[in-house]
Amino acid sequence: MSDKSTGSIRPSIAVIGSGICGLGIGWRLAAAGCRVDIFERGEAGREASWAAAGMLAAHVETEPGEEMLLALNLESQAAWPAFAAELAAVSGVDVGYRDEGTLVVAAHRDDVAELRNTYEFQRGLGLEIDWLTGGQARRMEPHLAPGVSGAVFSRKDHQVDNRQLVTALRAAFLAAGGTLHEHTAVDAVDVSGNRARGVVVGGRRHEADVVLLAAGAWSYDIDGLPPLGRPPVRPLKGQVISLRMDPRAPVIDHVLWGPGIYIVPRRDGTLILGATVEDKGFDRDLTAGGIFRLLEAAWEILPQIEELPVKEMWVGFRPTSRDDAPILGPTPVDGLVVATGHHRNGVLLAPVTIDAVSRFVLDGVIRPAIQPFGIDRFHLSDIRQVAKGQA
Ligand code: GLY
Repeated sequence: MSDKSTGSIRPSIAVIGSGICGLGIGWRLAAAGCRVDIFERGEAGREASWAAAGMLAAHVETEPGEEMLLALNLESQAAWPAFAAELAAVSGVDVGYRDEGTLVVAAHRDDVAELRNTYEFQRGLGLEIDWLTGGQARRMEPHLAPGVSGAVFSRKDHQVDNRQLVTALRAAFLAAGGTLHEHTAVDAVDVSGNRARGVVVGGRRHEADVVLLAAGAWSYDIDGLPPLGRPPVRPLKGQVISLRMDPRAPVIDHVLWGPGIYIVPRRDGTLILGATVEDKGFDRDLTAGGIFRLLEAAWEILPQIEELPVKEMWVGFRPTSRDDAPILGPTPVDGLVVATGHHRNGVLLAPVTIDAVSRFVLDGVIRPAIQPFGIDRFHLSDIRQVAKGQA
């Protein structure tokens, strides 16, 4: 597609999947003058993006082995306030950015040593987090259980309302002139001569200069993808339950973590308790054991939940790659670009993913921040073999 005002050529894009990545990248590309069609087999943003809790927890969620991912997480976290403000201005939807911070608590004296180890590790990475006694934590959150014996406070780990985020991105995408095809499954990616030429939908070809694969946990299963363009992601099931607080008298204000649980308060009084981590494929069952463990772990640190009405329960599928890090940018198939594999960090990584992937599509530039997260890191031996065969 050509942009007549500037004379520049803008590529046409077919996006597979309308989660935060598909809608967000689609928004940026449509706003830049590209023709963008998003194909979604269900309703926009109703899978992992809807199931998430919206925590922006680059500090307290960092684990050993994630040092490289930390830089990307921190960059995205820093971009969030401006991103939220821009999106609200464009869409008219407030994404519920809250900056009270996050408390991680040791439920009992026995849990203190483990929490202290994690604290030392995260401090060793230069992260600005503070150690609190149980009493100091209770002064911040008076309903914490008396057994809470120590805590870590991260003032920089914030939250957004991920469902409002989906609503905002959808509105921004449509306002920018993008086309959203809901209830329209892609049959296959149309690839020939090692080039993606569009997608096949309902038996008909839809041509595009670029195909963006952003189908979350389903990204591996799209027909037509050559092996080197097939991102190795699998679904990692999470069960979640939400309760209803009085929004005028919320039980907590901070995001709260305890052993085996996180608890996220929303402004409307919703209290989200998540989440199980289960390697069970696309199993959509809520289980008594899963919900029981969430309630038990939450009750252990916040007994006040006992009186709260149950609001909703749901299952989501984290798109998890072989190394738990996202898969971003170009593939060895010309014109095929990926944005998937965000595992537990899809909401946190939204600003950097949307910026870096849309920039690559527009300018062909791979920003250094996403260079370590290309699909080629999984396929190096396959690529060498293909190259040898061609030599
Ligand atoms: N980021 C929260 C979760 O994956 O459960």
